Amino acid sequence: MSRSILKRNLIAETHPTSTVSEAYRSLRANLEFSNRGEAVKSIAFTSALPGEGKSTIAANIAVAYAQANRRVLVIDANLRKPAQHELFGLSNVQGLSTALTKPGELSDVIQRTSIGNLKVITAGPVPSNPSELLESIPMTNLLESAKGSFDIVIIDTPSIMSVSDGLVVASKSDGVVLVMQAGKVKNQIALQAKASLEYGNAKLIGAVLNNVNR
Ligand SMILES: Nc1ncnc2c1ncn2[C@@H]1O[C@H](COP(=O)(O)OP(=O)(O)OP(=O)(O)O)[C@@H](O)[C@H]1O
Ligand SMILES: [Mg+2]
Repeated sequence: MSRSILKRNLIAETHPTSTVSEAYRSLRANLEFSNRGEAVKSIAFTSALPGEGKSTIAANIAVAYAQANRRVLVIDANLRKPAQHELFGLSNVQGLSTALTKPGELSDVIQRTSIGNLKVITAGPVPSNPSELLESIPMTNLLESAKGSFDIVIIDTPSIMSVSDGLVVASKSDGVVLVMQAGKVKNQIALQAKASLEYGNAKLIGAVLNNVNR
């Protein structure tokens, strides 16, 4: 897929005055006030099922934060099916998986984007042990270190009903947003996803109903 096609998914950047971009801005504002004054510096985006729009929404929210002059880091923690490198048109030769297997300077894996104050750690090559890497202490340390250098850290994760990765990352984040594709996720599955997040000690701070219209 060409970069120009993918770039269209970053509507918050390409069409900042559109209604959709306005929706992203208001979601950002809501998230900022979601935790009764407690700072939420890292937010994981997840969903019950695959393909509900987590990556698209995470990237656009990140753009909305950057437009509000926050220093933003996007981390692609969907090590099985990465997307952020494509959304931002970046290389994925190294990224989170390399940082977690060969811990070095965080700055080695942080890439600049065309948006000044928005940087990205892409997922990196698909590892053989994604859950283990995400559960590891280096992952906890990486998130803490990222929170020290950025105003907000947006984390893209896999869906939670199939593999444990999403839950693991959600529980290491200050807050989690559950993305639900309108008409796709049955109430019962959404409730199960919410219960899993709560059981896994993740702090649910928001839900987004995504009306995917392909
Ligand atoms: N609101 C929307 N309108 C139109 N297309 C959308 C919308 N949200 C997502 N899409 C499209 O749906 C597809 C899946 O979206 P995306 O990759 O963001 O989902 P995901 O939840 O991250 O998937 P995965 O579980 O595979 O990581 C993409 O092709 C994306 O462009
Ligand atoms: Mg995705």
